[in-house]
Amino acid sequence: MIPSDFRVEYNAGDAPLPKAELVRRLQGKDGLVCHIISTIDDEVLAGAPTLKVVSNVAVGFNNIDVAAARRRGVVVTNTPDVLTETTADFAWALLMGAARRVVEADRFARSGQWTRWQWDLLWGQDVWGKTLGVIGFGRIGRAVARRALGFGMRILYHDAVRADAAAERDLQASYAERDDLLRQADFVTLHALLTSETRHLIDARALGLMKKTAILVNAARGPVVDEAALVTALTEGRIAGAGLDVFEEEPKVHPGLLPLANVVLAPHIASASFDTRLAMATLAVKNCVAVLEGKPPLTPVP
Ligand code: DGY
Repeated sequence: MIPSDFRVEYNAGDAPLPKAELVRRLQGKDGLVCHIISTIDDEVLAGAPTLKVVSNVAVGFNNIDVAAARRRGVVVTNTPDVLTETTADFAWALLMGAARRVVEADRFARSGQWTRWQWDLLWGQDVWGKTLGVIGFGRIGRAVARRALGFGMRILYHDAVRADAAAERDLQASYAERDDLLRQADFVTLHALLTSETRHLIDARALGLMKKTAILVNAARGPVVDEAALVTALTEGRIAGAGLDVFEEEPKVHPGLLPLANVVLAPHIASASFDTRLAMATLAVKNCVAVLEGKPPLTPVP
């Protein structure tokens, strides 16, 4: 699908290129297709004056200085839609895993300590019929909410922009102020983009508003949560558990999280199914090719 008159240079490795090498390899290039591990800041853009498009293979684009790109006339694209359902599935996997203690159960079943059926073994929390609080009610947040209908849950959401009445009706979701949502939800799931407004949106104060029995799910971006405050809340039993796919300083996981049995951890894999990763890569390449052929990209960042 890459036109035959395009020349492509790959970074065949998994690691991001150091900034100087990235800039060196961008000399004379028209387009860049990159992952979230590559930081495309003003310095990189300044060092690559021939660049016309930065095509991120992700829906999130906090690795790119979009304002700087716009100033320099560089188009930025991302890969929304194609990963919505897969990411929502995984947010649910984290929610269910944390609520029903699936990882602990797996470890126990393998450990040789399981000697008989036990009445009070690994009691978890019900999910059905509980209240789900969705923070960030875009595509993924709504897909997570839609799944909650099958669990007979009450759905509250918070977003900077209120959803229209039809969406609220279809998803049986009610808008709530953030603090009210945090106070009422049994499960709080985060689906907001990382911006200066959402950094540490869930801090010690927010965690303090949550129920002691509540579970926090983060499949958005690590810095949306103040990880140190989360460790304190989990350790001191101020909330019951968490399911985390993303971390403040990936690939580092806060050392305070590692020993906690009430946390399910995953290495940023919410969109990682074969089909979805292929769809993301395809869309990213199509975006890049479109811009280089002088056409509008399919999915420019908003
Ligand atoms: C995204 O798309 O933003 C994910 O976090 C990376 O796949």
